[in-house]
Amino acid sequence: MKKLIISNWKMNPSSQKQATNLFNGLSRGLKKSNSKIEIVVCPPFPYLSIAKKSTAFKLGAQDCFWEDQGAFTGQVSLAMLKDLGVKYVICGHSEKRRFGEIDEDVNRKVRAVLGAKMTPILCVGENMEQRKNGQAFSVVEKQVKQGLKKIVKSQVSKVVIAYEPIWAISPNGPCLPDQALTMTLFLRKVVSKIGDKKTAKDIRVLYGGSINASNAKEYISSDFLSGLLVGSASLDTKEFVKITL
Ligand code: PGA
Repeated sequence: MKKLIISNWKMNPSSQKQATNLFNGLSRGLKKSNSKIEIVVCPPFPYLSIAKKSTAFKLGAQDCFWEDQGAFTGQVSLAMLKDLGVKYVICGHSEKRRFGEIDEDVNRKVRAVLGAKMTPILCVGENMEQRKNGQAFSVVEKQVKQGLKKIVKSQVSKVVIAYEPIWAISPNGPCLPDQALTMTLFLRKVVSKIGDKKTAKDIRVLYGGSINASNAKEYISSDFLSGLLVGSASLDTKEFVKITL
């Protein structure tokens, strides 16, 4: 299976002009990228509509709501995202959990994304205090189990899991490749209990946190890691393109 590299622009940049420049730079730059890598770009909602169709990358969204339509002020539905060409949706990023998103919400989103025949990216990860207290494994285990709740076994491998320890997200981090790998193996074990061994092998598990062009290879070269989720470094087109080479 192709490796997957996801770019998360977070709440950047601040104008359509800058976003257009980023999209254009990516379309040009990613032409030379490794064809064995699938690339997904997740801009903020307002810029999804200005992304021109590109063969260089697929479009992703940073969030969604689980209801189809109606009186839900401020929410964005999957039908709206699909209509804009979105294929992947980030669910449960720590920067959303930080402002009150709970596992139940994340699970509703993951299930809704699957129901819309799109790919959910389920983000999990412990904070520094939890790691210091020896709770890193139990925290991510709970997040994965809750995030994948009520999903039929045959659908589990369609979810992408992104391990993003909060303490490793820039400007902190990164988490050492060995630590990321240990958690990846653990996550596959958790998935094997929810699905089966094949699901645990097939599911894509990414690492995210302070990835840049100089360290990306150390992570992505592992057979157990399916790819990367890149934040800040993806706002620099040249840097991001280097990550994908
Ligand atoms: P970072 O962010 O690459 O800037 O550390 C990763 C993320 O939060 O998705």
